[in-house]
Amino acid sequence: MNSHDYKIQPLQRFSGSNAAIRRPKEIACFSYDREHNFRLDESSLSYYFPPLPSQMPADLNEGFETFQKLDDSGDEHLDALLDTVVALEENTGSKCEADIITWRGMMTKIMTAPFDMLNGFEMNATYFQGSIFIEENNAYKNAQKEVQRNQRPQPGMPSQDVMAYWGYKFETLAVIPDTWDATPREKIEGRVHEVVNNKAQYCSVVRTGIGKTKLVIGGEVDAIWDSKPARKEDPINWVELKTTSELFNDKEKLKFERKLLKFWAQSFLLGVPRIIVGFRDRAGMLLRLEEIETHTIPGKVKRDGRGSWDGNVSINFTAAFLEWLKTVVNTDGTWRIRKREKSPVIEVFKLEESGHGDILSSKFREWRMKQ
Ligand code: A3P
Ligand code: MG
Ligand code: MG
Repeated sequence: MNSHDYKIQPLQRFSGSNAAIRRPKEIACFSYDREHNFRLDESSLSYYFPPLPSQMPADLNEGFETFQKLDDSGDEHLDALLDTVVALEENTGSKCEADIITWRGMMTKIMTAPFDMLNGFEMNATYFQGSIFIEENNAYKNAQKEVQRNQRPQPGMPSQDVMAYWGYKFETLAVIPDTWDATPREKIEGRVHEVVNNKAQYCSVVRTGIGKTKLVIGGEVDAIWDSKPARKEDPINWVELKTTSELFNDKEKLKFERKLLKFWAQSFLLGVPRIIVGFRDRAGMLLRLEEIETHTIPGKVKRDGRGSWDGNVSINFTAAFLEWLKTVVNTDGTWRIRKREKSPVIEVFKLEESGHGDILSSKFREWRMKQ
């Protein structure tokens, strides 16, 4: 098997000034409703509205028994993203050109790889009409989840399922379904008892660029600060919501700094300017909220932190890796992009000599072949 390796180390070659980056611009969006049905609209867009003072401190455990949880074990490939691209091309009458089309989660894994030796990832890629399409390898994702589920619970800590619920409960407590002036007071007050449902999502599809690579990325955004700007070219005030443990000691502070890399990369990729962090205690009581401007995070980590990561290196690494990837994935067939746990290399090797596997939906291929 002909494998191509991209060495992550040494990182010095990625330091220095930044590769060119283009500000992400939303070109389309889609939603999943509360039954996780796909909709080509912004119906699941949520509006940020912090918990009322009378609702704090909030118990993030409340309602765990009634959680409407998305079963995401099935393989959705790039289907929703490609359906949205087809609709966009129908509307505009022109091809959505990009070097790479993928989910934001895949790009986050690549961007954070220089500072995340420990974790691995597996993706599938294919080349079609001048673009590389990248999806997550679903079997690998499910196996990872199984490992997580079987991890021995830390003494005195709630289960992984309960802790994951805290994140969604926080989202429910911090958003409303419409602008504040159009939302009845009872709705805002009633959020504490609302059934938590993570099947509904709003996903933004953006065009962006890192170095010489043009990307189209789809990813979920949690909420909007105000409302979408009237002028389409203006940036959107997206909000990313995160919960994290209150920082009691140095170990937790370092852990938070490492988490900030993921928060930053994830938000940077879609152009989310603000992250709201909900600090909680170990029992899941939400204690306070903090607003962080995404663009200030790398500087803060360098200046005030332990310097466990460097945003410039992440960007330059991503620019260089994607340029290299374009020289490898440029023929018919399917490929695996893999980083093994604790490995300092990303391997890219061919899985199938021809076709596109299941990465591209037949709807998408047929649409494009017709053009
Ligand atoms: P927190 O990030 O507040 O823990 P996102 O922040 O990306 O919008 O994700 C929303 C929530 O989904 C997370 O909230 C967390 O509860 C859950 N979640 C996301 N990724 C997860 C993962 N890899 N494992 C477990 N839970 C996850
Ligand atoms: Mg989210
Ligand atoms: Mg979030």
